[in-house]
Amino acid sequence: CGIIARIGHGDAAETLLSGLENLEYRGYDSAGIAVQNGSGVKVHKCSGEVDDLKSSLESQPHGNMGIGHTRWSTHGPPTDANAHPHTDTAGDVAVVHNGVIDNYDELRAELQAKGHEFESDTDTEVIPHLIDEYRTETGDSEQAVRRAVETLEGSYAIAAIVDGEEAVYAARKGSPLVLGLDDEEWYLASDVPAFLDHTDEVIYLEDGDIVVLDRDSYRITDLAGTPVDRSTDTVEWDPEDAGKGEYDHYMLKEINNQPTSLSNTIEGRIDDGDVALEELPAGTFEDVETVQFVACGTSYHAAMYGANLLRSAGISTEVVRASEYASMSGPVDEGTLVVAVTQSGETADTLEAVREATARGARSLAVTNVVGSTAAREADDAVYIRAGPEVGVAATKTFSSQAVTLALLTQRLAADVPDATPAADRETMLEELKDLPEHVEQVLETTDAETLARDTVDSKSYFFIGNGLGHSVALEGALKFKEITYEHAEGFAAGELKHGPLALVTDESPVFAVATGSGDGKTKTNAIEAQTRGAPIVAVSPDDHPLTDVAEVHLSIPDTHPVWAGLLANVQLQLVSYHAADLLERPIDKPRNLAKSVTVE
Ligand code: G6P
Repeated sequence: CGIIARIGHGDAAETLLSGLENLEYRGYDSAGIAVQNGSGVKVHKCSGEVDDLKSSLESQPHGNMGIGHTRWSTHGPPTDANAHPHTDTAGDVAVVHNGVIDNYDELRAELQAKGHEFESDTDTEVIPHLIDEYRTETGDSEQAVRRAVETLEGSYAIAAIVDGEEAVYAARKGSPLVLGLDDEEWYLASDVPAFLDHTDEVIYLEDGDIVVLDRDSYRITDLAGTPVDRSTDTVEWDPEDAGKGEYDHYMLKEINNQPTSLSNTIEGRIDDGDVALEELPAGTFEDVETVQFVACGTSYHAAMYGANLLRSAGISTEVVRASEYASMSGPVDEGTLVVAVTQSGETADTLEAVREATARGARSLAVTNVVGSTAAREADDAVYIRAGPEVGVAATKTFSSQAVTLALLTQRLAADVPDATPAADRETMLEELKDLPEHVEQVLETTDAETLARDTVDSKSYFFIGNGLGHSVALEGALKFKEITYEHAEGFAAGELKHGPLALVTDESPVFAVATGSGDGKTKTNAIEAQTRGAPIVAVSPDDHPLTDVAEVHLSIPDTHPVWAGLLANVQLQLVSYHAADLLERPIDKPRNLAKSVTVE
């Protein structure tokens, strides 16, 4: 979910609505705003997207302060009643919330017993009722917010307004919240793009912070009311980056942005034939014995990519789905480095896995795109992938930048960890990396992905296979395809196809075979086995690769080092998914049921 609040001079509603549009990547099944307009708190909310909310407004609501929310449902389906903001019985306190309140059942029962009436199925609704209850007791809204926050168990970023008060109250624990400082206005939001059009001066709030914004000042205190000092940062993202530009969809813009985003990832990080990571100088990892990657979704596939490279460097490596970490990881001690790969730095499953590993003695490193994110702040070290803002729910450019950052990290680890073996061809590999942005440009300029998508779009299933690094690309290709086309797509290790999935292969299931120039023999053999059962084969490979001899269709990638070839193949597969979804008229940037950043477990 995404929340926003704004107080200042001039009208809030329009700013809240445009801010919510920039937060829709966090959820888009319901939206709402509440403003103060001199005659009470007015709430406008409905199921559907921010656009639906806008068209449901008969006239623009007015008020110089307000709060807003865009929802990804957890407790209760996406209905008008479950949309935020929620209010107390009298409608005097309105609240937006991102996170999960664990003790809402008992709080709701207690409040109902005291006469509070509830209208939704959400956990959030207890918050305005609690604030109202404590206001009655203390006669003071700030006190009431503090007491409410003390009573809540779970995770939250909250913003509240109260009838007749020129103030916004907010609190954070476990869900992101950023304060934006403009000359005449203050903003609070789950993420910077919500207010980047107005200001780039921000304060990243921390767990336990309580914020009170009024027309002329802001105050940050801890739970006990003691003022806390938080530094101001200037965000380097250009608001231009936040728009769709000439593209029909953010996803296409972001795919096409990869030559630039990759250049940013690499810039200054290769020096004299070696890796130079400013954040992680030589010697940083001298005490590391084993590495555990934790990640979800696309980031998990990037983590697989990184893990594969680390194993090749002789470093003991595990890669664990973050949601499985508590029950699935191997032994952990102070020689363990847990690497959280997370674009947003806010994925609850990933944060929880890192906390678990840390509690068991591991040291932690966040590999993330978002400066100031929870992962970056909680981990012992952080390295940024520098991909720039990604809005499309389906991750594209961040996967490429994650994989490259992890490849660079591998070289740092290989140099530091005792008994590890840095790649013998490191210099050539790093030289080829410098050409990666240009190679991606070539793919973008010459791709046949749209034609292929048109020719295959009415297939029954889509399979993706690869070996080694190609395996992670195959999994990512399938994930992208299913996320945005809603068609059945699966990725497999090439050699595994014959151990079960082959039963699904028919002449209506194209098989995309990813070649990286290493371990492709298995990919070719297994592609032929699928072809024998009637499947059309698509080779995603360099031009003169043996796979092209057997494949019906070829998506070409430039010749490069095998470590980078998979990333070029992945760009081709991103484009196939995009064009297939476009032909199927799917809502590409906001696929159903998904959210870009899932901040609940
Ligand atoms: C969500 C998104 C995925 C993403 C995953 C991990 O499920 O829909 O696209 O890969 O979260 O996100 P992270 O921000 O941790 O990389």
